[in-house]
Amino acid sequence: MGYLSMILVAVTVVIVSKILQACRIVVWRPYAVTKCFTNQGIMGPSYSILSGSLDEMKKLRRVAMGTALNTNSHDITERVIPHFTTWSSQYGETFLYWYGLQARLFISDPELAKHILSNKSNIFVKPKAMPTAELFAGKGLPLINGLDWFRHRKIATPAFTIDKLKGMVKGMATCTVSMLDNWKNHAISSADDQCREIEVHGEFKRLMADIIAHTAFGSSFVAGKEAFKAQLQLQQCCAASSTDTFIPGSQYLPTPSNIHIWKLDRKVKETLKSIIDGRLNSPKTGNSNRYGNDLLGIMIDALDIFQSRAGPKLKMEEIIEESKAFFVAGHGTTASFLTWTVFLLCKYPEWQTKLREEVLNECSVGIPDADMLAKLKLVNMVFLEALRLYCPVIRLFRQGSEDTKIGNLMIPRDTCIEIALVEIHRSEKYWGQDAKEFNPLRFINGMSQAAKHPNALLEFGFGPRTCIGQNLAMLAGKTTITLILQRFSLSLSPEYKHTPIEHDDILISDGPTGPVMKLSPKLKEQLHKPWANAIILKNMGRSHTLSFMTMKLTQKWSLIGKWHLTDLGETFLYMHGMEPTIYISDPELATQVLSNKSGFFSKVQFPSSFETLFGKLGLFLLTGQD
Ligand code: HEM
Repeated sequence: MGYLSMILVAVTVVIVSKILQACRIVVWRPYAVTKCFTNQGIMGPSYSILSGSLDEMKKLRRVAMGTALNTNSHDITERVIPHFTTWSSQYGETFLYWYGLQARLFISDPELAKHILSNKSNIFVKPKAMPTAELFAGKGLPLINGLDWFRHRKIATPAFTIDKLKGMVKGMATCTVSMLDNWKNHAISSADDQCREIEVHGEFKRLMADIIAHTAFGSSFVAGKEAFKAQLQLQQCCAASSTDTFIPGSQYLPTPSNIHIWKLDRKVKETLKSIIDGRLNSPKTGNSNRYGNDLLGIMIDALDIFQSRAGPKLKMEEIIEESKAFFVAGHGTTASFLTWTVFLLCKYPEWQTKLREEVLNECSVGIPDADMLAKLKLVNMVFLEALRLYCPVIRLFRQGSEDTKIGNLMIPRDTCIEIALVEIHRSEKYWGQDAKEFNPLRFINGMSQAAKHPNALLEFGFGPRTCIGQNLAMLAGKTTITLILQRFSLSLSPEYKHTPIEHDDILISDGPTGPVMKLSPKLKEQLHKPWANAIILKNMGRSHTLSFMTMKLTQKWSLIGKWHLTDLGETFLYMHGMEPTIYISDPELATQVLSNKSGFFSKVQFPSSFETLFGKLGLFLLTGQD
């Protein structure tokens, strides 16, 4: 046989084996998996070659997207996962469908969910993500499996302990006050009336980007924010270029969109790398951790270049990927959580009032600390109810790495399991007849007493892969809501359309279909109280009785004068940003303050621009011996 014939035979063998392989994936496997489940009584929509059940799913989704819900309705399942309501009514609550070529077993039973999520033997792993998702979300904790996951989780866990996070409340408050200052200015600039609308989801996304940059990067947070900004652009590009059916290898083609994605990815990685190099070049002394006590410092300390150090190690690329992962996992979820909490507080003003009272009782009008936040019981109950009804992550996914039996159910290898939190969280079987209603009081005796199944609330997942950032999310949430309630009263914009939707795996609010997409509820915020709350300190220095009054801001209004002239009395305390300031107009008190010779009342710190204007060393600005 000549060379040519040998090559022909080899090529034919390769082609035939590829064809057989394709037939196995496209025809044989769907047939075998369907049969395996049918034999166990689990049915589902039929499989179409290549598209699986996707065509029907898309049709159901299009219909669901066409209508907005009544704002009083929290029954969002049909809108966000319409395939569940349609197919569960036909095939029962556990059914099989085909996401293209991927078999998906849909479950909404908390007992089954518990078994799958708590599995420690690495049988149910995270399904392989699309290459574009890996690019923007980072190959970090949420996506990796096995020993790599174990090593990363062990290193990152100390950064998220309550004690560590407690020290970060001040930083979180600084970020929040800066956002609320902008809200205040927005409200003051109102030319017409006292109410201005704020698109809260965007605001909370920016806020969480700031807070996570603080938590993860500490002192390098400005550069960290830059990296996150590029990462957000990367996420948008990846989302725009992704399709339902992925063609393997297409991510390597030099298309204009791929080239743009590669550039952004390089920028994210270079920025993160330069932050890490900066830390490596200037280690700190006196810190318990040489490279900082924040998440980045803890990860750098585990770098594999430090061979002498015991314990698990990380490579430089792994730290970069993990930094990306924490941002993506934490920022959209917590922004969604805050947005829906605020939505519910607008819908239920009586709860808004109760929470404000609790906040003012426990934290007064100052910047709260972690101990004060721990006392906010009603806030906690409202948070749990918000996470139950509007869970930011509405579905969890796992993939069987081998054939496995759970109870009587045999799950063939590679089957993807879809756990529908959104359904478990509002099932009457576990939550009673008012399952679809807002009732924070169900949590009055704690989470364990609220439902008929201990795992009916899975807002942060369950088992070894439970959310590592849940304490951070709750603390950031409490800080933000406290500072908002101290300053603003909230109501829902009449423009708001109740259109919850899952976008990039997170529950957000979509706008009405059409060119203008409103991605979140709009709020009408009415400022109440001098920016926003005024306190009258009656009998300064003795009784600290605080009383509150409501005011609305207009453009023509000079704040301080107005407070004075109206009902706050001639001596009152207001917050100048984060600085408590006492306003006095009593000449007797003024004489005492101004004539004080012991240096007790010195000049306030002026901005540096004043130094240029008045001279740094001139009488106007100098204090003390000088
Ligand atoms: C309200 C806000 C949040 C919600 C509802 C939420 C929800 C979840 C859920 C359900 C999981 C488990 C996913 C699964 O089992 O497949 C998870 C995992 C994770 N979350 Fe969160 N999360 C929130 C905030 C955060 C924050 C603030 C961070 C960090 C900054 C974070 C970082 C992570 C990471 C790294 C994982 C993967 C853990 C692992 O696989 O070991 N999350 N989150």
